[in-house]
Amino acid sequence: MQTFVTRLELILWRKQQHEAQNQIGFVPTMGALHKGHLSLIEKACQENDQVVVSIFVNPKQFNQSADLHAYPRMLNADLQLLKHLNNLIIFTPSESEMYPTNVPFNPMSLGKIGRLLEGAHRPGHFEGVVHVVHHLFDLVQPHQAYFGQKDFQQLAIIRLLNEHYRFGIQIIGCETIREIDGLAMSSRNLRLAPAERQNAVSIFKALSMVRNNVGKQSIGSVIEAARSIIEEAGLQIDYLEIVDPVTLESCAEWQEIQVCCVAAFCGEVRLIDNMLCESVL
Ligand code: PAF
Repeated sequence: MQTFVTRLELILWRKQQHEAQNQIGFVPTMGALHKGHLSLIEKACQENDQVVVSIFVNPKQFNQSADLHAYPRMLNADLQLLKHLNNLIIFTPSESEMYPTNVPFNPMSLGKIGRLLEGAHRPGHFEGVVHVVHHLFDLVQPHQAYFGQKDFQQLAIIRLLNEHYRFGIQIIGCETIREIDGLAMSSRNLRLAPAERQNAVSIFKALSMVRNNVGKQSIGSVIEAARSIIEEAGLQIDYLEIVDPVTLESCAEWQEIQVCCVAAFCGEVRLIDNMLCESVL
């Protein structure tokens, strides 16, 4: 494992790798690594000759400065977790290395998909994600990049970004990794107090209930029941919607496949999760 902090180190390394025709995998992260990240990184290591993991808490994607400041940072622990993996480059740039003033960026229009769900509730969030991922893709120039499906909408937007800027990278969406009780793994879980941690599982319970009731009752009544499960556990729902997996627009009727997407505050901590729900009819 090697750690780079400057763009130049990464660019020189990447040129060597391309000359040697090595296949590069890339896993962008904001650190506070958990088993969900590790599963992406291990998959990337199996499928590529070399893997780059970036660790950068991207200020541009936080629409609230309190959330940015509370975001867990634990670089030493992260490096410990990865040290057993070979052929790994960790890129931990400072803000000025990530966003040098002389690197141009033409923002893309995210279209309707960027205005729904997270886009509607966290203005500027996806614009910030696109900015940093554009710069990272440009620097690393990987063959394959790995993203978790927990951030379902982000994954859809990364696919758009890849097409828009013609990076030609294979974008690989990986299954959400869950705790034993079903809570989706997230760096934000570290901020939950013990009682909040117990209540947070209501999100998974609500999603599972939706999945088990596709087509059995009206969408409206299933949404209402799902909201009650979460609210009775004391969480505050930001949104809970059943949407088309491609357009992310709300479904008025059940269809063959839909995805239920939730964002809810558990105390001060905003958690998101989703579940693909297939019709059994
Ligand atoms: O999913 C995340 O952790 C971040 O949004 C990402 C993709 C690393 C960009 O900062």
